[in-house]
Amino acid sequence: MSLITYDAEQRVFHLQTPSSSYLMQVLRDGWLAHLHWGRRVRHYHGGIAPVHLDRGFSPSPDGSDRPFSPDSFPQEYPTYGTGDFRTPACQVQREDGSTVGDLRYTGHRILAGKPALPGLPAVYLESADEAETLEIDLKDPADDLVVTLRYTVMRDHDALIRSVCFSNRGTRPVRLLRALSCSVDFRDAQYEVLSLHGAHVKEMQVDRHPVHAGVQSVESRRGHSSHQHHPFLALLRPGSDEAHGEVHGISLVYSGNFLAQTELDQFGTVRANLGINPFDFSWLLEAGESFHTPEAVMVHTEKGLGAMSRTYHELYRTRLCRGRHRDQARPVLINNWEATYFDFDADKIEQLAQAAHSVGIELLVLDDGWFGHRDNDLSSLGDWVVDRRKLPAGLDDLARRVTALGLQFGLWFEPEMVSPDSDLYRTHPDWCLHVPDRRRTVSRSQLVLDLSRPEVCDHLIDAIGQVLASAPIRYVKWDMNRHMTEVGSAALPPDRQRETAHRYMLGLYRVLEALTTKFPEVLFEGCSGGGGRFDPGMLHYMPQTWTSDNTDAICRLRIQHGTSLIYPAITMGSHVSAVPNHQVHRTTPLATRGHVAMSGNLGYELDLTRLSADELDAIRHQVAEYKAIRPVVQFGSFHRLLSPYEGDETAWMFVGQDGREAVVVHVTTLCPPQQPIRFLRLSGLDAHADYRDLATGRVHGGDELMHLGLIVPVQQEDFQSLMVRLQRVDAN
Ligand code: DGJ
Repeated sequence: MSLITYDAEQRVFHLQTPSSSYLMQVLRDGWLAHLHWGRRVRHYHGGIAPVHLDRGFSPSPDGSDRPFSPDSFPQEYPTYGTGDFRTPACQVQREDGSTVGDLRYTGHRILAGKPALPGLPAVYLESADEAETLEIDLKDPADDLVVTLRYTVMRDHDALIRSVCFSNRGTRPVRLLRALSCSVDFRDAQYEVLSLHGAHVKEMQVDRHPVHAGVQSVESRRGHSSHQHHPFLALLRPGSDEAHGEVHGISLVYSGNFLAQTELDQFGTVRANLGINPFDFSWLLEAGESFHTPEAVMVHTEKGLGAMSRTYHELYRTRLCRGRHRDQARPVLINNWEATYFDFDADKIEQLAQAAHSVGIELLVLDDGWFGHRDNDLSSLGDWVVDRRKLPAGLDDLARRVTALGLQFGLWFEPEMVSPDSDLYRTHPDWCLHVPDRRRTVSRSQLVLDLSRPEVCDHLIDAIGQVLASAPIRYVKWDMNRHMTEVGSAALPPDRQRETAHRYMLGLYRVLEALTTKFPEVLFEGCSGGGGRFDPGMLHYMPQTWTSDNTDAICRLRIQHGTSLIYPAITMGSHVSAVPNHQVHRTTPLATRGHVAMSGNLGYELDLTRLSADELDAIRHQVAEYKAIRPVVQFGSFHRLLSPYEGDETAWMFVGQDGREAVVVHVTTLCPPQQPIRFLRLSGLDAHADYRDLATGRVHGGDELMHLGLIVPVQQEDFQSLMVRLQRVDAN
């Protein structure tokens, strides 16, 4: 069945995912109107077209048809300066200095599959019949710039993927000032906006509020997607929740500066815009050149936030993440960062590996401090040469000692950075982002390498590649610990300086493509002081991300809850650390730390050699339990049950792909006096099946568990948790 149809008589495009429809119509003189993004309809009969009214102060393209105004009908890809006063999706400056735009339909194509997006991370297909793509060409009658809107409709995922290509088919250059990936004009304003914001050690906090008049946005001007705001927004009907209600999610596959914006206009309609942040951006497009925007992944559902998340999880896990590790269970790891910080040597790491092996851990990650003369964060970034004071026999020797114990060996890098105190900086002082005659602002005592320069990227591919080839390294933690200042490149001419930040991203993606292709056996984990670059762009190259530097189990509830709105558990690095917690000094039970970390991609980040035999036993038990539930957590479907934003309880659950097993996690934060008997209603089970609680042996109906709920034991202390494993009775 076709996913995309074009009704030539009405000039209507109809895109259909399994449960949603997306409709556009070519109006008079080639104006392209947006008609609908929402619940699926069988066919569009044409009666519900935009209504044109003669409104005061809304101009019309010509005097003969006053009611027809771009200011008041829903636009598909709005421009600036010819009658639509709402925020545009694009703005282009011509050689004469004018910035007025007027895009009209000139043609379209419907293609099998999904064309590649050159140089950018993207959702991909494994065979062309998984999707169809519509390309609509728009052109400004006044010039030769062709703007191609691209829509891919996935056959088995309730998702639509949009991007835009600007092609300069003229003989003179033009300058893109604003080139967003998508714009959607909603018909009414009965929506709430959900976005994610945060800070270092406080990522992915959920914010939800009614759409209000004017423009609201989250954005990054930090050069990277950032801890502070996230390249995502959702519009929801008021009252919608995890299981009910209409939700429109838009997620941007990009790791740099972004803008995610809504605008409620004078006529009660809402425009949503997402893409590269126009702030401090421009792109000179020479004759014959093209510019591709990142893609936006749009998910619509009538079944609440839970259904939206599960669509993103499945799509991103199977068609955004790539490589050999995509479908493999991820190893339980020990990371030495919170165990030793910079103070370690080869023997200490080997002892940690021994202890880790004795409890069943599968991978040891040597974190920051193994190179140059890095005893603190003041030096050596850029000098990826082993520090013989700490590792006298080198990396290869240590990796082999760890491997001989039965663990895989992983290594930390922060490749995009350079310390002023480094040989790299002394040799190439112009290889960092900087502006001539200005002070170079440091952050964590480091500068940002200028990845807009091809030779800097080539150097990284070579330098990191040499280390990876020098020892049996099976995992890389790719860290990035500061944002961009003095954003300028010594290699770009003055009129291209505002391209630096986006060119940096293109350079970074090229480096990642090269290294992940050359070292397919290496499992890469992204990190930016935790989740500062936990975004779909990075997940395309690295199938997991360190979720937060905050390892406190209670803070992690909100962080992991927010992250789970878009990203599946398999992508979320989550570690058990020591108490009192190093970030917030809270003491929580080991079981609770375990249950929260086991809700993601489990690891440990503490000095196992200093634990008591009882604690090691408890960890051995946790690791074994995690291995038993790992397929369910890493490849199953995820259901949020109780939100950490709404009270003292958080709960979520996982249901295995074949429906035979489920895992429920419940955490109480503060224990109230006179605690009521609590019933936790489950989700995602088969109402007609029975399930055995593996701890108690009791059998419950799926319908009972979902409609009556599990009884949560009364707890006498704060920060207690519960993990329940259920197995379908007929699965024995
Ligand atoms: C920030 C990371 O998020 C930490 O886990 C650790 O790797 C440090 N950097 C090391 O400098």
